[in-house]
Amino acid sequence: ELEELRRRAAALVHDVPDYPEPGVVFKDITPLLADGPTFRAVVDHIAGGAHGPVDLVVGMEARGFILGAPVATTLSAGFIPARKAGKLPRETVAGAYDLEYGSAVLEVHADTVWPGARILVVDDVLATGGTAAATIELLEQAGAEVVGVSFLMELTYLEGRSRLAGRPFDALLSY
Ligand code: PRP
Repeated sequence: ELEELRRRAAALVHDVPDYPEPGVVFKDITPLLADGPTFRAVVDHIAGGAHGPVDLVVGMEARGFILGAPVATTLSAGFIPARKAGKLPRETVAGAYDLEYGSAVLEVHADTVWPGARILVVDDVLATGGTAAATIELLEQAGAEVVGVSFLMELTYLEGRSRLAGRPFDALLSY
């Protein structure tokens, strides 16, 4: 059953060579999102992997929103968008992460997270892990408990998982 979902999902992730730059193979998930039954099954898989009750799902801009919001409604949990710097109008908590050149910041509205909130973090891809590590850090700064981190796919050769410090982790697909 799980292997069948993996096969279906993997067949709908399209490799785009040399995008966005030469030598990089971009993993395009839009064919998967456009396939209703597979999208639904992926969302159910992520929601079903939650360890215990989940109060909030946090999805990272932008593709983490697409997967995270339906996972949240499936779990009857709230949804928090972790947005790139400067997009949220009220007081935020922020986490910084390194990019190839420079750094970036993700933010959530401070009053949407509460101490002890049980949070599932959802994104499409775990690459270097910088985005996920920054998100976890800002949520824990706010006193929340990250009960799981779940991705559609993991690029294992970038070893992003090492930055998740042993928190419950799942990725449906591995490359
Ligand atoms: C991609 C992806 C993850 C992140 C993974 O987002 O959706 O959020 O990179 O990379 P990392 O593990 O090396 O941090 P991107 O920053 O391209 O933003 P986008 O979804 O808005 O295009």
